[in-house]
Amino acid sequence: MQNDVLEVLYSKQTIAAKVQELGTQIKQDYAGKNPLMIGVLKGAIIFMTDLIREIDDFVEVDFMDVSSYGDATVSSGEVKILKDLDTSVAGRDIIIVEDIVDSGRTLDYLIKLFETRAANSVAICALMDKPEGRIKNVRADYVGFSVPDAFVVGYGLDYAERYRNLPYIGILKPEIYEN
Ligand code: PRP
Ligand code: MN
Ligand code: MG
Repeated sequence: MQNDVLEVLYSKQTIAAKVQELGTQIKQDYAGKNPLMIGVLKGAIIFMTDLIREIDDFVEVDFMDVSSYGDATVSSGEVKILKDLDTSVAGRDIIIVEDIVDSGRTLDYLIKLFETRAANSVAICALMDKPEGRIKNVRADYVGFSVPDAFVVGYGLDYAERYRNLPYIGILKPEIYEN
């Protein structure tokens, strides 16, 4: 285990089983619909690439880079588009893929954006949900794990751009971000 990690919350095997479950459910729910799956950079990269391989059917993928945190652990409250989609969402069935829903600001912004752009439907698939962090009233349609109010890293999630590559999800030692 990486030295800055206090405790493993979800192992590689636990995550893989959950991602397979979510993929199977999405495949069933979207049969014949060719959904556009939109990964939110950068946190969703690992989840997105694993999830789409669990859907043995037609899907299209695109990415959007939105940021609300910068390098701080506390949200600035502002959402910025850093990279927009290449694909038109008009008339499409959208599945937004996120690593985690915390305050809900990122998803609240994206849902409204895609509705303005005339998507046919907008659903959310989040590997993790942190209900205690919620400020905006958003609910994910597909959720992997409901997580405690701790600073989690790995499997895409960073602290100051580190730890995204860890194959598990762990709780960061407080001394790492309390300096
Ligand atoms: C993190 C995370 C989600 C978002 C959740 O992204 O990956 O996208 O914050 O927080 P919220 O519900 O309070 O909006 P971040 O903005 O840190 O960018 P990153 O994905 O590049 O790490
Ligand atoms: Mn993110
Ligand atoms: Mg981040």
